[in-house]
Amino acid sequence: MNIVITDDYSSLSTYVAKQIVTTIKNNKHTVLGLPTGGTPEGMYKELVKMYNHGEVDFSSVKTFNLDEYIGLSKEHSQSYYYYMKRNLFNHVNLKRENVHVPYSNTKNMQVTCEEYEREIDYAGGIDLMILGIGLNGHIGFNEPGSSATDTTRIVDLDESTIVANSRYFSSLKDVPKKGITIGIKTILKSKKIILIASGLNKSQIISEVLENEPTSKIPATYLKLHPNVQLVLDKDASSNL
Ligand code: GLP
Repeated sequence: MNIVITDDYSSLSTYVAKQIVTTIKNNKHTVLGLPTGGTPEGMYKELVKMYNHGEVDFSSVKTFNLDEYIGLSKEHSQSYYYYMKRNLFNHVNLKRENVHVPYSNTKNMQVTCEEYEREIDYAGGIDLMILGIGLNGHIGFNEPGSSATDTTRIVDLDESTIVANSRYFSSLKDVPKKGITIGIKTILKSKKIILIASGLNKSQIISEVLENEPTSKIPATYLKLHPNVQLVLDKDASSNL
C-alpha cells in the first residue's frame, strides 16, 4: 500500500478531490466508487468547489455508492442516498441516470444485490474507488467476518458500527441494524482504490491494518491483495504508525 500523509483534514480533502478530478480529466467516462460518512464530506465540498470553478465536468461520469442502510426511505435525512444528494448530486452536473446508490427497500433483496453487481460490470467496472474506514476496520458495510469473495449483499451491522453511527440519529434504537453493501470482491475489482482516514480516533485501526496480513477480523486488510491502493491519512490518523 502506498501511504500519503497530509498535514490536516483540509489538505487530505483537497488531495483526494484533486485525484478524482485528474482521473475524470484523463477519462470523461470515469466510473467512481463513492463512500459516505463524516470523513468524505470535505472531499465532496472540494469537488463541488472545483466544479463551480469550471475545473471538472461530471456529465459522462458514473458513480456507484458502496452501501446503504436497510429500512430507511431514500428521503430519510440519514439515508446514504440523501447524504449523496446533500453533499454531491444536487451540486454538480452528474446525470441522474448515472448515479447509483444501492436501494434497500425493495421486496427481493437478492435480486437487488445481483442487479447492482451487474450494473457495475455493465458500466465497465469501477475505475477509482474511494473508501472510508470504520473504527473496527470495516469498508463499506463489510464488517469483521467478511470474506474476500463476498459480493453485494445484505449484512448485519456490527454493534460498534451501530454505536459509532448513532451520532447521526436521535437515539441508538433509531439506527438501522442491517445494511446493503458491495462486497470485498467487488471493491477489489476496482482499478484503483484510495482509502481515506482522518483524526486520532482512526489511528489505532490504521496501524492494525498496516501491521496485519489480510484477515476477516479487519476487513480493510484485504486491500493488501490489490496492486494499486493508496492510503491517504491526515497527521492525526497516522500518529500510531
Ligand atoms: C459508515 C459507512 C462507511 C464509512 C464509515 C466511517 O459506517 N458505511 O462506508 O467508511 O461509516 O465513517 P466516518 O468517516 O464517519 O468515520
